Amino acid sequence: MRTDPIFVLSAPRSGSTLLRVMLAGHPRLFSPPELNLLQFETISERESSLGFCRSGSCRNHGRCDQRHGLQRALMELHHLDDAASQQMLDALIEQNTPIPAVYNLLCVDAAPRRLVDKTPPYAARLETLEKAGRLFPEAHYIYLYRHPYAVIESLVRNEFEPTLGKAEAVWKIRNENILKFLATVDRRRQAHVPYELLAKDPERVLRELCNSLEIEFDQALLTPYEGSRMTDGIRPGILPPGDSNFQRYGGIDGTRAGAGLDLELPEPLSEETRRIAGILGYEIGIPASFAAMNR
Ligand code: A3P
Repeated sequence: MRTDPIFVLSAPRSGSTLLRVMLAGHPRLFSPPELNLLQFETISERESSLGFCRSGSCRNHGRCDQRHGLQRALMELHHLDDAASQQMLDALIEQNTPIPAVYNLLCVDAAPRRLVDKTPPYAARLETLEKAGRLFPEAHYIYLYRHPYAVIESLVRNEFEPTLGKAEAVWKIRNENILKFLATVDRRRQAHVPYELLAKDPERVLRELCNSLEIEFDQALLTPYEGSRMTDGIRPGILPPGDSNFQRYGGIDGTRAGAGLDLELPEPLSEETRRIAGILGYEIGIPASFAAMNR
């Protein structure tokens, strides 16, 4: 029997690496670094489209390749080193393997564990999310979201986006796409997780999540910095795709729940961003200084 994957959907900088690593500790789940599969039709298309991040301003320039999540997963599943796993990948590329076949391989090899695919870029396009719906009628979706100020602040501070406006657009578009897509999915196959609650009360969130996934709660979920959880790269000096700041924390840091909330913006968030934030339970008014200016 094939079991469809669990997808973690989120905007970037929403705590998805933390959640991914927490889930990697559960004996019934296989949760590797970002797989970056769903955006493509075939593995060869993926190979030629992804690579080392092009931004020279990124502090991890040359150390983080978006293709490596899949390779790291193969290393783990087949107990291979980077050279042997590269050969396996090369064979898949040679055959121009379609992406559904790659998922099938991962799901079968990971069984009886269920594959977790957390790849934030999926939410950039509604079509990519819809493809998950078409390929995997029994997939589960974990929607992880975070206050827009915190995400905007993190995107700019970490130099993923050059301006606050561009960072806001990323938060808005990704969350809008996820909400649109999930409106078409059976509610029983979705779990919604606010990052702030995950950071402050991880046990409550993870227990609810396990209920939704119909698996037993396991204490290892709460110790993301313990054991082997694919937080290393394919070889020393290389980072796995995901949050490179993850290793700076020694545990689940509840204080990050309030990070970025004092962000000072040159102008208020757009009406559409505030509308989406409101749906997610973040009430964002227009600061009095702006309201007075527009009177
Ligand atoms: P910052 O370090 O910029 O604050 P993602 O993995 O989706 O890119 O999200 C990254 C964010 O997750 C980090 O952004 C940080 O806020 C949060 N995060 C990472 N590790 C964490 C930990 N151990 N405890 C709490 N929050 C963490």
